[in-house]
Amino acid sequence: MSKITASITSVGGYVPEFRLTNAMLEKMVDTTDEWIKTRTGIEERRILKGEGLATSDMAAEAIKDICKKRGISPEEIDCVICATVTPDMVFPATANIVCDKIGAVNAWGFDLSAACSGFLFGVTTGAGLIESGKYKKVIVVGADKMSAIVDYSDRTTCIIFGDGAGAVLLEANTEGNGIIDSILKSDGSGKAYLHMKAGGSLKPSSIETVTAKEHYIFQDGQPVFKAAVKGMADAAYDLLQRNNLTGDDIAWLVPHQANKRIIDATANRIGLPAEKVMLNIQRYGNTTAATIPLCLWDWEKQLKKGDMIVLAAFGGGFTWGATLVKWGYNFN
Ligand code: UT7
Repeated sequence: MSKITASITSVGGYVPEFRLTNAMLEKMVDTTDEWIKTRTGIEERRILKGEGLATSDMAAEAIKDICKKRGISPEEIDCVICATVTPDMVFPATANIVCDKIGAVNAWGFDLSAACSGFLFGVTTGAGLIESGKYKKVIVVGADKMSAIVDYSDRTTCIIFGDGAGAVLLEANTEGNGIIDSILKSDGSGKAYLHMKAGGSLKPSSIETVTAKEHYIFQDGQPVFKAAVKGMADAAYDLLQRNNLTGDDIAWLVPHQANKRIIDATANRIGLPAEKVMLNIQRYGNTTAATIPLCLWDWEKQLKKGDMIVLAAFGGGFTWGATLVKWGYNFN
């Protein structure tokens, strides 16, 4: 019997309508469109507006998009892995809330916290479930409502982040398509440079933590930037080496969209020209766990069966890694 691999068989996405442009940010903090564009590549980001709307609502839309495209009922989904750092609540898991919202009554699910690498960690975990032969349809959704934890008076972070959700469906494949290999890493000492100070068990929420603005993202940009350039590029390079591939064998690099300069460094390291690099940071900013599936969503029509693609990410934790995917279908 041929070996079972976990193939991506559909991609879904959702971005909110509201566009927060660089021009709007110029009016909110001491920044310029020119600074943001040259230092990050971002021109606008989407923000989820509306009372009572949360990460689960965007994740639910992305999964409904998949069900429609693939012609499946939510009841057929076996498991939902939700990668997020902005869960609706500390508990229960956003995955459970999503399953309830879409009617995935036969699925179990859980949240996965690996910040910007969450989608890679989720896809690798989900692939293991499919390869075990026990599960037929696993959804991996990366969703973040970053606007819920951004301080819009802090120019060093508010220019970067946006909201969105992207999802893939994993199903068994016997032609060798799908998730081929992953190199995944984490290093908790990186927490010093990128974290949220309060709201966890270390520092529960209080009037003091709210007053001190400790429920927002804290980022020391430079050390994160340096570690990201090295981590993402090394992981992508080592992944190709381990699989006896060079940049010439790769159809697409799908990088986490945190900063165009980090993306360029990763592409250079594995020898990929700009036309083989998915880049939508200018439109969505950094949507944390959603960046990679949102790229797949935007480029789905251009992907061809058999394309070798490299997904690469770096984020809070620190967490980082790269995943090799052999694309399983032509869009029609
Ligand atoms: O996705 C999760 C992982 N996160 C990342 O990968 C992000 C990694 N870091 C970065 O992308 C970059 O470090 C940032 C985009 C966050 C910052 O860019 P940078 O080129 O590293 O700038 P910097 O922090 O070294 O700051 C340079 C200057 C500073 O002013 P002084 O001290 O030189 O006078 C900042 O205060 O730029 C200033 N600055 C700004 N100026 C205008 C910082 N933010 C802004 C801003 N507008 N929005």
